[in-house]
Amino acid sequence: MDALEAILTRRSTRRYSPEKPDRKTIEEILDAGRHAPSGGNNQTTHFIVITDPGILSELADIVREAFSKMEVYPGMYSSMKNNVIAAKAGKLVFHYNAPVLIVTANRKGYGNALADSACALENMMIAANAMDLGSCWINQLHWLDEDPVIREYMTGLGLKEEETITGGLVIGYGEGGLPVRSELPRTGNPVTWVG
Ligand SMILES: Cc1cc2nc3c(=O)[nH]c(=O)nc-3n(C[C@H](O)[C@H](O)[C@H](O)COP(=O)(O)O)c2cc1C
Repeated sequence: MDALEAILTRRSTRRYSPEKPDRKTIEEILDAGRHAPSGGNNQTTHFIVITDPGILSELADIVREAFSKMEVYPGMYSSMKNNVIAAKAGKLVFHYNAPVLIVTANRKGYGNALADSACALENMMIAANAMDLGSCWINQLHWLDEDPVIREYMTGLGLKEEETITGGLVIGYGEGGLPVRSELPRTGNPVTWVG
């Protein structure tokens, strides 16, 4: 699969088989993330790779608990609202039981923190697709970055005091295969040509 095909056929995968990709495969995907561009070539995105099923399960519990305490308010953006509703029903598993969760962090107060990490996350999702693995951006830990329980837990996993959680993704084999990977039409993301 060439680069353009890997970009155009990448889809968010939300159903995973429990089978864990081997370490070399995960390292190759991480390498794609680490080779992403960064403002000023700062290379300050920190990748926390979690593959321990017990830790993934504990994280799902504390994220569910944190979301269950949030109030649904008018105008709350829809996927956040759905997460809160699912958490209150005890049904939120924010990482979809994928075998690998990669959390990205970057320096607090660094103006390119989110942009640099987004480049890394997209590189990793494209690499995963090229390797016939599913992936999905996972943002709950970013939203909960200032929650003291989440921060304490993530600090135990290697998050540094001077870092903020910028995002994350899950990777794994799609349960029953990957979602349809044909190129989907784009109706949003308008383009203005000048000249
Ligand atoms: C910044 C960002 C945050 C996202 N957060 C989540 C998330 O927390 N959980 C999730 O299932 N998908 C998340 N997504 C995936 C989007 O829902 C998905 O990319 C979008 O619906 C388009 O579908 P596609 O990726 O299959 O093209 C996120 C995507 C982006 C770029």
